[in-house]
Amino acid sequence: MAVERTFAIIKPDAVRKKVAGQIINRIEEAGLEIVAMKKIQLTEQGAQGFYAVHKERPFFNDLVSFMTSGPVVALILEGEGAIKQWRDLMGPTNSNEAPAGTMRGDFGTDVEQNATHGSDAPETAKLETTYFFNASEILTASEAL
Ligand code: RTP
Ligand code: MG
Repeated sequence: MAVERTFAIIKPDAVRKKVAGQIINRIEEAGLEIVAMKKIQLTEQGAQGFYAVHKERPFFNDLVSFMTSGPVVALILEGEGAIKQWRDLMGPTNSNEAPAGTMRGDFGTDVEQNATHGSDAPETAKLETTYFFNASEILTASEAL
């Protein structure tokens, strides 16, 4: 499997609950490398653009309100098969259906307030990564020494 990068968000519900540190710890324990990370407040326009694929969905306005309801932590994760690995670690979208031990099972509340985001494919990972980070903000451990 190839080394790849995925884009992750620790959503406002998880930041509010002060479990961002636990989530970051689990990412590192799983062997994914954090190559970029920052805490930001999404604007309405920023959230609408990020989730534009869902703009016709009935939950879109609620989703934008939720994602702008407080700061988030945005990350780029690197590792072999990182996109699927991070999706597996997160669990299914609905926190009520997510098994214990997954991010959403342990830290999410429902289908909307589900603690984390993860890219779903290589193309979206690339798009989402550049939506939030400049090349100069991406550092591997060896570069950071
Ligand atoms: P994400 O993009 O955040 O990683 O989540 P996902 O792929 O598992 O789910 P997706 O279908 O892309 O939905 C994006 C986010 O919208 C909220 N949502 N609300 N009220 C609802 O029925 C509903 N469905 C989805 C969730 O926050 C979901 O993660
Ligand atoms: Mg999605």
